[in-house]
Amino acid sequence: MAERLLASLWETRPDIVVITGDLTQRARHRQFAAARAFVEKLPQPVLVVPGNHDVPLYDLVQRFIGRLSRYRRYICEELQPFFADDEIAVLGLNTARSAAFSNGRISHRQVAAIRSVFADVPPRRLRMLAIHHPLKVPLAVGNLPVVGRADVALKAIAETGVHLVLSGHYHRAFSGRLLDANLVDQHSVLMVQAGTGISTRLRGEPNSFNLLRVNGTAVSSTVMVLRNGEFIAGETADFAAPLIVQSGSQLERVKGIEPSS
Ligand SMILES: [Fe+2]
Repeated sequence: MAERLLASLWETRPDIVVITGDLTQRARHRQFAAARAFVEKLPQPVLVVPGNHDVPLYDLVQRFIGRLSRYRRYICEELQPFFADDEIAVLGLNTARSAAFSNGRISHRQVAAIRSVFADVPPRRLRMLAIHHPLKVPLAVGNLPVVGRADVALKAIAETGVHLVLSGHYHRAFSGRLLDANLVDQHSVLMVQAGTGISTRLRGEPNSFNLLRVNGTAVSSTVMVLRNGEFIAGETADFAAPLIVQSGSQLERVKGIEPSS
C-alpha cells in the first residue's frame, strides 16, 4: 500500500505534500524510523504536523516529559512549519497534547501565529492551515469532538483570510464548506479532511488521500481512493474563494466518499 501511494504521488508530482499527523501508532522508535523512511521517499517538499498518536501514550516519562521529542528527532524538528510559493501559503500547527489525550488543542500562542504569519502573506495567494485535529465536525461524520479552542482559531482564520483548512484524525475523507454566520466579513472556509492514508485502521472507508489542485483561489479537491491495489480518482469537489456565507453554523457536505457497509 505504501509503495502504491508513493508511486501515485510520484506520478502526480505535487508542488507540496502535506501530512496531517498520526505517522505512527504508538510513537515507538521503530514506528518513527519506518515513518521517516517513508517520508524520505515522498516527492519534496513535505510539510508535516504531528497527531495524537505521535505522542507516547503508555510511557508516562516520554508522554509528559519527552512529548514530541521522538517526532522531532525522526520526522521534523519544526512544530510550526511554513511553506510559501507564488500561489499558496501553508502553515502547519501542532495540536497534539500530552494531557488532552486524543482530542488536541490549539494554544493562544498558535492563534497569534495564525494572525502574524498570514498577515505577512501577499494577497491573492491561497492561504492554508494544516492541523491534525479538525475544527468542525462534518455532519456526515456524526458526533465527534473538535480540537480545543476551535472557535478562537476559527475567528483568527476568518479574520486573516485563510481559505482552506487541512486536517485528519477522523479517518474520514471529506471536503466541505464551513458556513458560519459568525465568521467575519462574509468569509467562509473550506475544510478538507484526510481519510486513512496507509494504515490498516479503517473507519468504514477505503484508504485514500486528497489531491488538491489550485488555480488562484479556486480549488478542486479529489479523493484518491485505493481500489484493487491502485489509488484512483473518486469524487471531486470544486470551490472558488472567497466563499460566501449563507446562514446558520454548520459544515455543509460537498463531497466525500460514502462509507462502504
Ligand atoms: Fe488522531
